[in-house]
Amino acid sequence: MKSTKLNLAIILTVTFSLAALADDDSTNAPAPTLPPASTKTGVTFDADIKPIFHDSCVKCHDSAGAKPPKARLALDTRDGVLKGSKDGPVITVGDSAHSDLVLAVAHVGDDPDEFMPKGRNAKPLTPEQIGLIRAWIDQGAK
Ligand code: HEC
Repeated sequence: MKSTKLNLAIILTVTFSLAALADDDSTNAPAPTLPPASTKTGVTFDADIKPIFHDSCVKCHDSAGAKPPKARLALDTRDGVLKGSKDGPVITVGDSAHSDLVLAVAHVGDDPDEFMPKGRNAKPLTPEQIGLIRAWIDQGAK
């Protein structure tokens, strides 16, 4: 009899702990994931990436503008992207999944302030565009 009560107590404790854990999970939105890299081969900055950055990023990240680019990060040239920002590199050549620029455009991370593009009328990049940027980085950022 005693042991039945003990078992019951254990079961209840475990059940409540699990319920608490499950509750914790449900209050957090599911972690966003990165769109897969494009399967396109021979991806280059000039042919594939420059048009994307031109449309969505260069108004704030332009090496040739009147003002310095935001975060001192120029995205109008391949050299600018490779050089990175005032805080250092924004891509890891060969490893798009750990490239800050990719996380920023895929809206992965804890700080929405870092999500790009910014601005009132900012339109997020499409999964296809993010996939191309990933393929470009994974293929050596040529
Ligand atoms: C409306 C202006 C604006 C647009 C458009 C914009 N950015 Fe930014 N970006 C900023 C500002 C401002 C910062 C400085 C840091 C911050 O506010 O988070 C920044 C910072 C960054 C950083 C982090 C640099 C660092 O190391 O601190 C990356 C990467 C970045 N932008 C990429 C992009 C990409 C890629 C696009 C286009 C898809 C884009 N941005 C479009 C304004 C913009």
